[in-house]
Amino acid sequence: MEYAIETAPLETLQCDCLIVGVYQDLQLSASANSVNVNTQGLINKILARGDISGKNGETVLINAIQDSSIERILLVGLGENQALSGKNYKKALLAAINSLKKTSIKSVVCSLADADVIDADRQWKTRQIIEVFSDAIYQFTAYKSNKETDSKVEKICITTPEAERGLAQAGLTQGKAIAEGVNLTKLLSDLPGNICTPTYLAEQALELGKQYPSLDISILEEADMEKLGMGALLSVSRGSRQPAKMITLDYRGGEKNGKPIVLIGKGLTFDAGGISLKQAPGMDEMKYDMCGGATVLGTLLAAAQMQLPLNIIGLIASSENMPDGDANKPGDILTSMSGKTIEVLNTDAEGRLLLCDALTYAERFNPDVVIDMATLTGACLVALGRVPSGLLGNNDALCNDLLAAGETSTDSLWRLPLWEEYQEQIKSNFADLANVGGKDAGTITAACFLSHFAENFHWAHLDIAGTAWRTGPTKGATGRPVPLLSQYLINRAHG
Ligand code: BES
Ligand code: MN
Ligand code: ZN
Repeated sequence: MEYAIETAPLETLQCDCLIVGVYQDLQLSASANSVNVNTQGLINKILARGDISGKNGETVLINAIQDSSIERILLVGLGENQALSGKNYKKALLAAINSLKKTSIKSVVCSLADADVIDADRQWKTRQIIEVFSDAIYQFTAYKSNKETDSKVEKICITTPEAERGLAQAGLTQGKAIAEGVNLTKLLSDLPGNICTPTYLAEQALELGKQYPSLDISILEEADMEKLGMGALLSVSRGSRQPAKMITLDYRGGEKNGKPIVLIGKGLTFDAGGISLKQAPGMDEMKYDMCGGATVLGTLLAAAQMQLPLNIIGLIASSENMPDGDANKPGDILTSMSGKTIEVLNTDAEGRLLLCDALTYAERFNPDVVIDMATLTGACLVALGRVPSGLLGNNDALCNDLLAAGETSTDSLWRLPLWEEYQEQIKSNFADLANVGGKDAGTITAACFLSHFAENFHWAHLDIAGTAWRTGPTKGATGRPVPLLSQYLINRAHG
């Protein structure tokens, strides 16, 4: 997909389709008005017919325009004639791009960033066009014989007044980087477990390192992890024929010796549950248990492409969780890299066993903050559904920064308490900690477990079990929380 900024007047443009906004009560946006003037009142005529009321998300494609270098016009309802909420702006964008699917339209000019949006400037509005369009156009066709996609759009020009060209250009750069990061995350996440193994993820990281010389990639093999004493992580991979990998992506865009932001991802390429085997229905979706790891790759791609002046370390703890003669058994006691011992009461609570060693390993990077992303608990779906990701952490400033980034990116979070009282639930009779805390507050007790390995730094945990992919007829990866983390990093770079 090609994206560009356009400052020339609408009537001079050439394209297969021009997208303009209309409001309720027959009111035209500035761009719709200028098109209306240049087409002898065509837009007003269409509105008067009542085929579109201007409600947010409605669309009408005008398919033949006389004597015009613009071949079609897509009218998009924006709602009431006042500043839109960010969410409604994105809803209108989504409706626009979806209505171009299954048409032959290749080149598009989009004027929707002219709309007023609450608390948003030209940069944000431009960026969102790219993020929303790119997200909607994505289709996972790698294993389809027919690779034809619904959208034929190849080029999108985003109009902007000359005075705001700089902001639009900055939005374009960010939008392209974030969209590419989201795309990589979705692609890796949608790949099946027989292709996307820990070894495959490590190879993809090395590929990314070749594409972006600012990224240094290194891989720990099981023998290396053995030497480091990563007994919790290795106990999970012992039940799998696929060797585990700990992947490090090192991006140094900031000051030499500046403390890095460490991003840790759960990269469980398939979670069968181990000896505490999961039920069959929906088990295919456990190929998505590596979405946290894929988020690290996508976010580092975006950061490297934006050349953010920050030091960032990405860590992906990658393994499978399978039932096997050598797999973890309920009751087994492990020694983690930190020296703390863990009683495995349920082998399906494997994510925390990977993450605890990754957290301990993170200490050696002398982190400024550590943020982990994991499809960690089904309980998070019960608590929050599929709207926000769960947020827990040991530092209010970090949590508030993440909440703010969630608002700006509309890739939202909801914070849950990490109170002392919950720690009772993960006490073990036989080891320092139990790996599960019973059926109450499963998302919180999982984070309580992790908190024992994050005592030496500011840490936040994102439970993305409900947000990393969609289930049902539109099953597929979302690429979340790449937009949120990209926003957090952008904010850090400017703060
Ligand atoms: N990867 C799963 C969590 C999960 C389940 C995410 C369903 C999304 C949808 C995790 O490894 C797991 O199995 N967690 C257990 C924990 C329990 C045994 C305490 C769960 O949520 O059932
Ligand atoms: Mn599990
Ligand atoms: Zn899991």
